[in-house]
Amino acid sequence: MRILLASSEVFPFSKTGGLADMVGALAKTLCHLGHEVGIISPLYAGIKEGNPSLELLSVELQISLGYSLIPGGVWYLRGSAGERLYFLQNDHFFNRPNYYAEQGQDYPDNDARFIFFSKAVAHLAQNLEWKPEIMHVHDWQVGLVPLFIRDHLKRGLRGNHPATILTLHNLAYQGVFPESSYALTELPLEYFRFDSVEFYGQMNCLKSGIVFADLLTTVSPRYSREILSEEFGCGLEGALRMRQNQLTGILNGVDYSEWNTHKNKSLVAAYSLDDLRGKSANKLAVQAELELSVREDVPLFGIVSRLTDQKGVDICLGALEVMLEEDIQFALLGSGQPEFEASFLRLAAKHSKKVAIHIGYNQGLAHRIEAGSDFFLMPSRFEPCGLNQMYSLKYGTIPIVRAVGGLDDSIIDASDDKNHANGIKFDEYSVRALVESMRKALVIHADPERLSFYRRNGMGVNFDWEKTAKEYIRAYERAIDSIDLT
Ligand code: ADP
Ligand code: GLC
Repeated sequence: MRILLASSEVFPFSKTGGLADMVGALAKTLCHLGHEVGIISPLYAGIKEGNPSLELLSVELQISLGYSLIPGGVWYLRGSAGERLYFLQNDHFFNRPNYYAEQGQDYPDNDARFIFFSKAVAHLAQNLEWKPEIMHVHDWQVGLVPLFIRDHLKRGLRGNHPATILTLHNLAYQGVFPESSYALTELPLEYFRFDSVEFYGQMNCLKSGIVFADLLTTVSPRYSREILSEEFGCGLEGALRMRQNQLTGILNGVDYSEWNTHKNKSLVAAYSLDDLRGKSANKLAVQAELELSVREDVPLFGIVSRLTDQKGVDICLGALEVMLEEDIQFALLGSGQPEFEASFLRLAAKHSKKVAIHIGYNQGLAHRIEAGSDFFLMPSRFEPCGLNQMYSLKYGTIPIVRAVGGLDDSIIDASDDKNHANGIKFDEYSVRALVESMRKALVIHADPERLSFYRRNGMGVNFDWEKTAKEYIRAYERAIDSIDLT
């Protein structure tokens, strides 16, 4: 099959969260399965410098954005698995310190930036000479692509016609802009209606994708059900219910060539299910690196996360206040909302040697915290899939998660299945429930046999991407069958 993916992030070229991991791994795996795969992403600052083999293609795009023609260069690279990577260049839009925001403020021209990107994606989907049969777009940044393609065909214009799929990684981000931004799309006004792009008087890029893609997927089965409710639908539950029959949930996989403990340059010692000694070495090393007391016996709880409301930061801070009275340690790597960063830093100042907070983004340290911790906290309010809990399992680090979205789909609590328990799950979004789970963790930690039982169960689980990619192939086949030519 010929498949084109479009995403505002792709690992290892750009990443702020799991979206990048998912898209990079899906593309690679589809290639390994023998498909022809392309990916389009913006050329952000640093990508050209970090990849000297990128070549500039001779096509220069001229994208019309209502007021003027905006040029777009296309840089090209063959990925390690044979995937075709296309990076869209426009330095004014993408050569900036960050991808979406600075100092907590979204870039004020995010409408123009991602309408430009979406138009370029639609253009390539329709004009690449290898004629993709599938256009698979991810999240709001490319939510308008299915409509651009559909409108183009409706107007009888020439071009390849791929089936379109939208994957919803996170309903909390929708790309909502004032009505005036709609002019940048140059789409007819007939689409600016409550049953298509319009959302309470504004334009909504994600809603456009939900309405016009041939098929919709989410990144876990449970999240695909949750988002039909008011609690999780972020205002789009009505639009989603209308397309319920075209919506399916596919749990993300894990790229074990990146996330493993036997061949990993970021770790000080290798370890495996059969020999866990290396795990202790990693614990002592990360304690030293983060200036915690270096002690094998103390339970170490870890977090690597964006610090946003989604991630349950408030109950986490509350639970730590209580739990830090015990003999435990806590290590966090993350960045995000300034008030959350400040609260964690205050906690570290109050509990030096017990709490280590590293504000920033650091791929190597993310691996070392995963490997060195005994427990990994993910008390999310909602979690479309979540990858860290699955990485934790492979690293022999027991996840403590709230039973939502992909966390519920991927972690087994003793109350679900006593023989295969690999983590601790709780339902209620409260400090009390999280404290209770952390106390259960202490009981497990104090009993070497139970600790090793949980670790072994977790390390034995396999979230292989191959299985996930095959589910996407089935979804692509379904999208081709259901393509709407009207
Ligand atoms: P989300 O996409 O909602 O942020 P996921 O659990 O799906 O959550 O994925 C998060 C990804 O981002 C993981 O690969 C995690 O290791 C990584 N990550 C998050 N914050 C940081 C950070 N500060 N430094 C390094 N990696 C991070
Ligand atoms: C989003 C979600 C996260 C998911 C990731 C990759 O960022 O918040 O739960 O794992 O996308 O699909």
